[in-house]
Amino acid sequence: ADIFFLFSGLIGRSWAMVFAAGGFKVKLYDIAQQQLTSALENIRKQMKEMEKAGVLKGALSADQQLALISVCTDLKAAVEGATFIQECTPENLELKKKIFGQLDLIVGDNVILSSSTSCLLPSKLFTGLKHVKQCIVSHPVNPPYFVPLVEIVPHAETDPSTTERTYALMKKIGQSPVKLNREIEGFVLNRLQYAVISEAWRLVGEGVISPTDLDLVMSDGLGMRYAFIGPLETMHLNAEGVSNYCERYAEGMRLVLNTFGAVPEFSGETVQKVNQALSEKIPVVPKALDARRKWRDECLTGLAKLKTQMKSD
Ligand code: NAI
Repeated sequence: ADIFFLFSGLIGRSWAMVFAAGGFKVKLYDIAQQQLTSALENIRKQMKEMEKAGVLKGALSADQQLALISVCTDLKAAVEGATFIQECTPENLELKKKIFGQLDLIVGDNVILSSSTSCLLPSKLFTGLKHVKQCIVSHPVNPPYFVPLVEIVPHAETDPSTTERTYALMKKIGQSPVKLNREIEGFVLNRLQYAVISEAWRLVGEGVISPTDLDLVMSDGLGMRYAFIGPLETMHLNAEGVSNYCERYAEGMRLVLNTFGAVPEFSGETVQKVNQALSEKIPVVPKALDARRKWRDECLTGLAKLKTQMKSD
């Protein structure tokens, strides 16, 4: 099997589990042995728990998957034999540029250099690299193990075969890749997310609705269908097709959209208001936050199961 190599933070661990579930050999690289030891321990624990709960991904047992994962603190040795490298260092342009600069000097012409970055543009990360044709962004959604989307974003000089190979690989490990034809700030997922967050913020800031009720509009309203169909298909189904939807609703939509306010500052009173409401439900302490994250992941696992079931039905 091919060998992959990653960094072992939150996202790196999750990627490692996704690749191992797909049957690929994984090498985890990090600067500190301590970080690797705790990553392995954490992965083992998570896999065992999921196996017990019957939600482990892939055809292999937890032990078989764990046997596919090895660790390494030497960059050169880590890269050896790798065909796909998924970088998962902290979101810091200078650091990432340094890492890709180092990789650029030691990799061959066949390996794909892929970054997990959430918002750094390929033109910032990869311009000037000798191996720029082999570079790409594969942006996962947290936690990638439960949320399959991956945004694939090429640099202007990325070879189309790099994009195709990355896309095929993501499919193979059971993720759900989408291709952007060119880079754009925030990629697509965060642009949609920020559009929602900014209107949510304005509505709460202007006192139209409480923070708790705002979240319900999404979780018990829009979100119910967004887990299965996107906004465009929603238009298609909510009328006799998209053209008919536009004929019927374009004017109304534009009236509403023209009342949207400016980009929020995300500071001051509204921060306090939202924080207070959320903290009542989920206190800002590790124990409460972790418990809620665990619950969220359980919900996502259940939803993933339901989605598979709805597809096969
Ligand atoms: P993290 O802080 O959990 O992990 C970063 C890892 O990099 C740590 O294991 C750390 O030891 C290692 N590291 C630090 N300096 C290093 C160096 N000089 N060389 C090698 N390794 C080094 O960060 P996280 O959350 O896993 O994020 C990683 C990337 O994934 C970021 O680019 C982030 O934007 C992206 N991402 C994060 C998401 C999230 O929700 N956390 C979602 C999607 C993408």
